[in-house]
Amino acid sequence: MLIKNPQGWEIPESLVTPEDLVFNRRGILRGAGAIAIAGLAGAASLPASAAEAADPSAKLYPVKRNASFTADRPISDERIVTTYNNYYEFGERKNIVAPAQKLNLRPWEITIDGMVEKPFKIDMDGLLARMPLEERIYRHRCVEGWSFVAPWSGFPLKALVDLAKPQAGATYITFKTFLDRTVSPGQRTQIFYPWAYTEGVTIAEARNDVAFMVTGAYGKPLPKQNGAPLRLALPWKYGFKSIKGIQRITFSTTRPKTFWEVTGPSEYGFWANVNPEVDHPRWSQATEEVLGTGNRVPTKLYNGYAPQVASLYAGIKGQQLFR
Ligand code: MTE
Repeated sequence: MLIKNPQGWEIPESLVTPEDLVFNRRGILRGAGAIAIAGLAGAASLPASAAEAADPSAKLYPVKRNASFTADRPISDERIVTTYNNYYEFGERKNIVAPAQKLNLRPWEITIDGMVEKPFKIDMDGLLARMPLEERIYRHRCVEGWSFVAPWSGFPLKALVDLAKPQAGATYITFKTFLDRTVSPGQRTQIFYPWAYTEGVTIAEARNDVAFMVTGAYGKPLPKQNGAPLRLALPWKYGFKSIKGIQRITFSTTRPKTFWEVTGPSEYGFWANVNPEVDHPRWSQATEEVLGTGNRVPTKLYNGYAPQVASLYAGIKGQQLFR
């Protein structure tokens, strides 16, 4: 399967991630090989300010930075983080900025249901008004072998769990992306995927300090291509756990089947914690390309968040924690 649209903004061949490391998940379905795709440096222009002005949350940003969450690397160029994206609802290539602008961010209602005291719906602005907004510098490690560092704005996932009031027996939280074939070409035409995109965490993971709901980036509302108006950030896990465009949050005792588990069960699992010593079946996870630098650096266990999260998994035996 080839996705290659040579553009003026593509980076030189020397900086492109080696072909054998590049991920092409459609290959799972079609049995085809992987091909390098890259569009990193000097990419298309930033989202139009008109689109930002139309977002009623714009006045909330920037928010105060939480100094407990910093990174040992420079913050990545905003232009790279906001133009090199994975968002299969809008296409399988990295440059999905233009199609993603079709997504309407208001009204945006989030359903909270399942094993909670009382299921409810809340609109995005009502949710923002009730959540403690802050900025955190987070690393992001995609399973494909690239990474960046971004200043996300948002609120701790545990604040949302407290708002939801889960019942005592609830163990898992399932997140679902919007389902709208009129705006998503992927949902309309790529019918072999198990839409809506689904992800999940345990409630213990959700209550960990690092689990974060993202609503903004670089001191502004989150761009549509990065998952506006609401996405998850679990930086110790591979990036596919960071579900975008969230509209439903469901509490349960049963573990959800996630989008990539259903699509490629031999390659992707529920836990997906970052571990440089556990290879993907088709490539090594030992190193990562830091977007915009041209450098490959060693990947860290739990993407560097081991002190905060490793204890979550201490009692779990006989499960694949790192895929
Ligand atoms: N969420 C949805 N709904 N659809 C997707 O295709 N891709 C995931 C994740 N969240 C994806 C998604 C993957 S594989 C990654 S690496 C990150 O989003 C990419 O986030 P970014 O585009 O902000 O870098």
